[in-house]
Amino acid sequence: MTITDNRSGQSVQVPIVDGGVDASEWRKLLPGVWFYDPALMTTASTPSAITDLDGENGILRYRGYPIEQLAEHSTYLEVAYLLIHGELPTAQQYEPWVHEITYHTFIHENVRKRFLEGFHHDAHPMGMLVSAIAALSTFYPEANNISDPDNRYKQIVRLIAKMPTLAAACHRNSVGMPFVYPDNSLNFTENFLAMLWKVAEPRYAANPTLARALDVLFILHADHEQNCGTTAMRTVGSAHADPYVSTASAAAALYGPRHGGANEAVIHMLTQIGSVDRVPQFIEDVKAGRGRLQGFGHRVYKSYDPRAAIIKKTADDVFAITGKNPLLDIALAIEEVALSDDYFISRKLYPNVDFYSGLIYQAMGFPTEMFTVLFAIPRTAGWLAHWVELLEQDQKIVRPRQIYTGVGARDYVAMDGRT
Ligand code: ACO
Repeated sequence: MTITDNRSGQSVQVPIVDGGVDASEWRKLLPGVWFYDPALMTTASTPSAITDLDGENGILRYRGYPIEQLAEHSTYLEVAYLLIHGELPTAQQYEPWVHEITYHTFIHENVRKRFLEGFHHDAHPMGMLVSAIAALSTFYPEANNISDPDNRYKQIVRLIAKMPTLAAACHRNSVGMPFVYPDNSLNFTENFLAMLWKVAEPRYAANPTLARALDVLFILHADHEQNCGTTAMRTVGSAHADPYVSTASAAAALYGPRHGGANEAVIHMLTQIGSVDRVPQFIEDVKAGRGRLQGFGHRVYKSYDPRAAIIKKTADDVFAITGKNPLLDIALAIEEVALSDDYFISRKLYPNVDFYSGLIYQAMGFPTEMFTVLFAIPRTAGWLAHWVELLEQDQKIVRPRQIYTGVGARDYVAMDGRT
């Protein structure tokens, strides 16, 4: 491409490499003239070798492996290894990885007793989780030595391992149940379910179909390239903040209803609609600009979200055990009406990952406040993979420019002289 400044006639040639143009060439030609790109909709902020997403064709691959194959054959811990290391583990690599994660699931007693139990009983578990992740930074002060790969690795193991324990502790605190310690004889997902649901039985045995369904959901949520949360992770990480506070910032972004909080918003929406016969009116309201159809639309997917297709299948397995979620019929009716309506077709609005995941979580017995927490557990692997990649790229601190639109210079006026 040749970019010409018509004011001076000066030009610069910029090659298109991997579908992008290098903005530093533009900067050389036009210093002080900035790309105006609110919400970074047209900006690639980094090269990345982790997740390949083709939104036009509904393709999602982790390190080259199609999400459909990983969801069918893999486990969340194997996928976490893949994201962090770049390759699927051999048996010799997988065994110590699982062992390490399993033996780092315990949290310091003070995190639970003094910190988490200090929250009010109706504190949102996601607010508790974000705070608890950040608090871990104070328990592992050595984590700020981010230039040492061994030290980084230790924090990665800790974070992936402790997320289910923190998440379960947040839930137990909200419902007034005593904390359940991790059981190292259980696998990752079964252990999480035991920490959530165990009451008085000596050992909690999770239903294997439900444990597998949750593991599949964890695989589907493990990474999604430069979404809002991952961008927060990379932004805070670029300041060389430690991985705990960086992960807390990513989780905070995920909490928002436009992002990972949408699965909770879907259930509120379906409950509010209440019955199938009220769906057409609701759709009309959305089209008239009175609210959005939660769980629909995506910044990148413009044909379909491949995760939504897998989740719809997983929902059948779960409902066969738990009984059908009564809100399912409303969701199916919305999908049917929306997918044949020009408003949604012309704007390329399709169900996203959040449209059906909430129905599964609810059928499994999770309160809606826990939905985004369930998203944050597996996404931690993705955030950390991006964090490592960022540090290995030795990227500069993220610091965008702005287009200043405020008033020009003016003199200070004493208070009695102001109108
Ligand atoms: N319901 C109704 N209309 C919608 C919806 C929706 N869910 N999403 C987008 N639109 C409309 C907009 O009103 C706009 O219409 P217009 O051109 O007439 O003004 C058009 O579609 C384009 O919408 P944008 O807001 O520009 O799309 P953007 O890429 O910024 O938004 C987002 C993406 C935030 C996901 C949006 O689709 C949305 O709010 N969806 C509902 C919330 C949701 O499900 N979020 C989860 C996303 S997946 C995830 O984060 C895990």
